[in-house]
Amino acid sequence: MRRKSARFFEMKRRRAPIAVLTAYDAPTAKAEADAGVDAILVGDSVGVTMLGYASERAVTLADMRHHIGAVRRGAPDAVIIGDLPYLTYETPLEAVASSRLLIEAGADIVKFEGFRADLVEALAAESIEVCCHLGLEPQTHEQKRIKGRQAEDAARLVRDAIALDKAGMAMLVLELIPEEVAGRVTQSVHAPTIGIGAGRLTDGQVLVITDVLGFSEKNFRHNRRYEEFGRLVRAAAKAYVRDVHEKTFPGEDNIVHMDKDQLAGF
Ligand code: KIV
Ligand code: NA
Repeated sequence: MRRKSARFFEMKRRRAPIAVLTAYDAPTAKAEADAGVDAILVGDSVGVTMLGYASERAVTLADMRHHIGAVRRGAPDAVIIGDLPYLTYETPLEAVASSRLLIEAGADIVKFEGFRADLVEALAAESIEVCCHLGLEPQTHEQKRIKGRQAEDAARLVRDAIALDKAGMAMLVLELIPEEVAGRVTQSVHAPTIGIGAGRLTDGQVLVITDVLGFSEKNFRHNRRYEEFGRLVRAAAKAYVRDVHEKTFPGEDNIVHMDKDQLAGF
């Protein structure tokens, strides 16, 4: 079977930017697929953006399966990348077992954080396509600060990426690193790189859909906020509550009546 990441390698070769968005539910996944997104990431960001957890670390394999399944049902033909949650890929055996659970739920490609070439090899040996994730690694880095600013850290990042590439990664997410570092990594690996807060020189971009929609109060420098969804939801809910309280909803156009002849015998 053709690898799901093959198209992204071709896009890298053609220098055609790859557009990735996160999604966590069926209708959003469908909207993104209709919009022509190249891949959908079901990130463990779901924990904070959708489930009200304080950290990505609270996300479980069951959570990921639940949301990957929803995204797959909403976007049957999309390429879906699924995050392996914190502490579910300690050993190669565990990484393979956890990945199988995500794939069974609907993921095409699994993603994990950190420099673990042993895991990439183990997964590749099982024909599981792997997306690596370097730079800011939210599962282990408590502080959401930019990584790879110092020349020494930047050089290590490039070295790590090259080793993961040799081990057989299919994609690489680069999070919150200087543009120059992301550019160097992108030139140094065969696999397509997807940046978030990593500048313009990666092979693609990924953003978190709730940030794009403006669901949260907080904005980030790396994000472009295309809508004010939080404000929209509040305004719609407020109008609905008002209409119910004032008895203007349901209106005549929202209801059904019995037929006259039936009503006579009722
Ligand atoms: O979980 C997530 O949404 C991610 C992206 C920020 C790359 O890993
Ligand atoms: Na993630």
